[in-house]
Order: sequence, then C-alpha cells, then structure tokens
Amino acid sequence: MTEVIADLEILDQKNDQDESCGVRISKEGTDDKARKLYIESYGCQMNFSDSEIVTSILEKEGFDTTSSFEKADVILLNTCSIREKAEITVRKRLTQFNKIKEEKPEITIGVLGCMAERLKSKLLEEEKIVDLVVGPDAYRDLPNLVKKAEDGEKGVNTFLSREETYADISPVRLNSNGVTAFISIMRGCDNMCSFCVVPFTRGRERSRDPLSIVKEAQDLFDRGYREVTLLGQNVDSYKWSDEENNKARLEKQGIAEIVNFANLLEMVAQVSPELRVRFSTSHPKDITDEVLHTMKKYENICKYIHLPAQSGNTRVLELMNRTYDRDWYINRVDAIRNILGQECGISSDMIAGFCTETEEEHQDTLSLMDYVKYDFSYMFFYSERPGTLAAKKYEDDIPLDTKKKRLTEIINKQQEHSLERNKLDIGKTFKVLIEGYSKRSKDDVQGRNSANKVVIFRDNNYQKGQYVNVKVNDCTAATLFGEVVA
Ligand code: SAH
Ligand code: SF4
Ligand code: F3S
Repeated sequence: MTEVIADLEILDQKNDQDESCGVRISKEGTDDKARKLYIESYGCQMNFSDSEIVTSILEKEGFDTTSSFEKADVILLNTCSIREKAEITVRKRLTQFNKIKEEKPEITIGVLGCMAERLKSKLLEEEKIVDLVVGPDAYRDLPNLVKKAEDGEKGVNTFLSREETYADISPVRLNSNGVTAFISIMRGCDNMCSFCVVPFTRGRERSRDPLSIVKEAQDLFDRGYREVTLLGQNVDSYKWSDEENNKARLEKQGIAEIVNFANLLEMVAQVSPELRVRFSTSHPKDITDEVLHTMKKYENICKYIHLPAQSGNTRVLELMNRTYDRDWYINRVDAIRNILGQECGISSDMIAGFCTETEEEHQDTLSLMDYVKYDFSYMFFYSERPGTLAAKKYEDDIPLDTKKKRLTEIINKQQEHSLERNKLDIGKTFKVLIEGYSKRSKDDVQGRNSANKVVIFRDNNYQKGQYVNVKVNDCTAATLFGEVVA
C-alpha cells in the first residue's frame, strides 16, 4: 500500500484501491469436469472480499474457478461505482466479453457489486449487455439467478438487506498469498458523505456477529495465515448488541452484551500473538481513544491507521457532510501521536476540486498534509456521482484542469512526505512479516512492518509467514530496504 496512488491519467498506477484496475482470480481449479467460473473484481477490498464469498456460494453449486475467461461458462464482473472512471472501465470490459459471447453464446455474463446495484436492470433490459445483475446483498440468490439466466429468463436481484452479513459463509480465498487475508466485519454505510455513492450501492450499515469473525480469524490462523485485516466502510461504528439469543450466546462465552470496535479488535487480537490484526477504514468522527488504547495494549494489532481526511478545509468538509471539522481531525491525529507515538503509520484519502472549493481552501488541504505528514495517501479528483447529495445540491463547478492541477499538488506533497517519513526509519529495526518474493527479484523477499510499510531484503531461505527483524538502511518514497538482524 505504500505506493502513491492517484486517478490522474498521466499518473495512472495500478494499485489495490484503484477502481479502474480489475483483478482476476488466480486460483485455477483442478476439476476438469466442473462448470467454470471466472470472476474479476474492481473497487475496494470489500468487493474483493465479496468475490471470495461469491466463489464459495458457487463452488457449493458445483462450479470450479478458472483464471482464464476463455474457459469460463460463467463470467462475473464484481464492479465499483465510486468514480465515473470505474464504470467506464467495466463497460469497456463488458464490450470485450460480449465479443466472446458472439462466438460462444452459451456463456453467461453477469455484473455484481456496486454498478449492478446502481444501474439495476438497466444493463440487462435497456442496454442488453449482460445476462445477470446481482447486487451486493443478493449473492445467496446467485445459483438460482444463474440458472434463470441460462434458461433465458431475467437474472436480476438488487434487493438491499438490513441483515445480510454472509456471516456463516466461509470465503474461498482467491488471489491469496497464504499469509494475509481480509475479513468483512460489517456491510453498508450509514454516513451520507455528499460525494459518495456507497450508501446507495451498499445499503444500511450492519455489523457481523463477533463470534463468526473470531472463528474466521482462528480458521485462517490454523491454516497458516498470519495477518487479518478487518474490513468495513467505517469500522469505528461496529456494534453488535442484538436479540436475546445473541446476548445469551455472547454472555455464555464471557463476552460483554455489547461489542464495540475496540472490544472486537481485542477479541481478534487474542486469537494468537502471532496473528497480526489490521483494520480499514477508520472514520475521523468515530475513532475513539478506547480503540487507540486497545491498539497500544496488543503488540499484534498493527500500528497503522487509515484515517481519510478528504479535505483540510472546514467549509468544504461541511459541504461534504463529513460531520467533523479541521480542528476535530487534527485533535484525532494528535491523539494517535500521543497514545501510539510518532511511528504509528497514518494514511488518508483526499479529494481535490470538490464543488465550490476555492484555491485558498485547497491550500488548507496542503497545510493539513504538512501538519499530519501522512505516510501514504489515496488521492482523487472529485467525480460527480448521479443520485448523491452533492449531485443534487451543488454544481460540479471546478474545471477539470483546475481539479487536475490541485490533485497534482496534493500528489507531489504526498511524495515528499512519504519520502521524509520513510527516511526517519533508516537505522531502525522493525519486525517484518514475510509475504513472498519481492516483485522485482526472486533474490529478495518482501513483507511489511507494523506501520504497513513495505520492506525489501535479501532472501535467505525464509518462509512466507515468518517474522524477521529487519534493520532499514535505505528507502524510496514507496519502500524500505534493509537486512535481517538477530
Ligand atoms: N468509507 C471510506 C471510503 C470509501 S470510498 C471513508 O469514509 O473514508 C474511498 C474513497 O474514494 C473515499 O475516501 C474518497 O476519498 C473517494 N471518493 C468517494 N467518492 C468520490 C467521488 N465522488 N469522487 C472522487 N473521489 C471519491
Ligand atoms: Fe462513503 Fe462517507 Fe460512507 Fe465512506 S463514510 S463509504 S465516504 S458515505
Ligand atoms: Fe467501489 Fe462499491 Fe467499494 S462503489 S469503492 S466497490 S463499496
């Protein structure tokens, strides 16, 4: 994650949160007789995690995965709507798949995820470019919908649920390195950030049964995984209280009646001191000192917080409906530094050129960055999304050139800070969890330290999933380089 990321065309880099970069499954099934499923995911980790649930549901129906769409009977695109570019990319991909379908009419093409939810049956009925449209809360219905589509009927379900968390479904790990995995702890979002389509595509916020989360973490640990990332759009509002039977179940296991995010973190951290715990995303309005103290208490809860600011200007934050102001945000950063120290990694998301943003207000974003000195940020220019509060209430009045200019300034600033922060690590020794070979050379391995920085060092018959202490002796803005010490 320590790459500088932007959606500026000229800086278009592939990364794990760039919605325009699809990731295909790399898990090649072995059952030649089974029907083949090809699934490609776009957008945030939540979508990637959902693709693992979808695969699990369809494997139970006798499907086996393939990493080449040419071999597939069913092609699924798990899509993202966060910015316009995300949808354009998926549409291009659908055109390609439809060419294949011309030669192989028996294949089924389906759209899942946020674009399915946003456009509903439009893709099927008006545009006729897919056979199947399934929203994020309707994946249990997939076997039935695939069958319908194959029988020439309409395979559409975009029902949004208030309860669905897929708690009982054990995800099939797709592009897995066997060391790190994601666990969804909640779904949906009840915030109404005015720029954001997620509340419309993912529905109401709901938390998942904590015991099912701990069980999933324990299963992963037993299978050799050494790091889990707890996922939610706003993990700090995680809350599990519920009907009597749930309470009774929790109490029976010595767990409090209400489980908040700090409690959940602690429960997962206790699975094993050898299991690292990360989480994303924290919302500045909700992150509590209790969470920070819990992070401090457990060595295996990684000292890294993704705390998207979006803007450094209070008026813009208000228009964005983020429900905190610049001072509040700074207070939260100060709390992180006070409780967890300077070494705790902090990253952000920034939006350049939101409606009516003045040059001065943009400067406030840059000065906030100077104050925090983020290790890393995801940076975007504002893209108006149909149906959102901002689309209804404000004019998208910042010219594209200005948006791009401001974004470039934000990116340049982040580059400087990433390098500056990484330089502070030179001479220090970090515990690193090895994830595999370095992307550049098989002579080197790579892993991350607690603050989520990628560390590269010479291989010496190390195993994936092994912890080693690495002394850093060099860096770029994106990576630390070092050597293993005793
Ligand atoms: N739940 C997370 C963010 C999910 S979306 C949070 O609240 O931080 C990921 C990021 O995409 C957002 O943080 C925001 O920076 C960006 N984003 C969302 N909508 C956008 C839009 N309409 N235009 C540009 N960027 C957007
Ligand atoms: Fe979107 Fe805001 Fe919810 Fe994040 S918290 S998903 S930005 S509405
Ligand atoms: Fe995109 Fe939906 Fe995630 S809009 S960012 S895939 S929640």
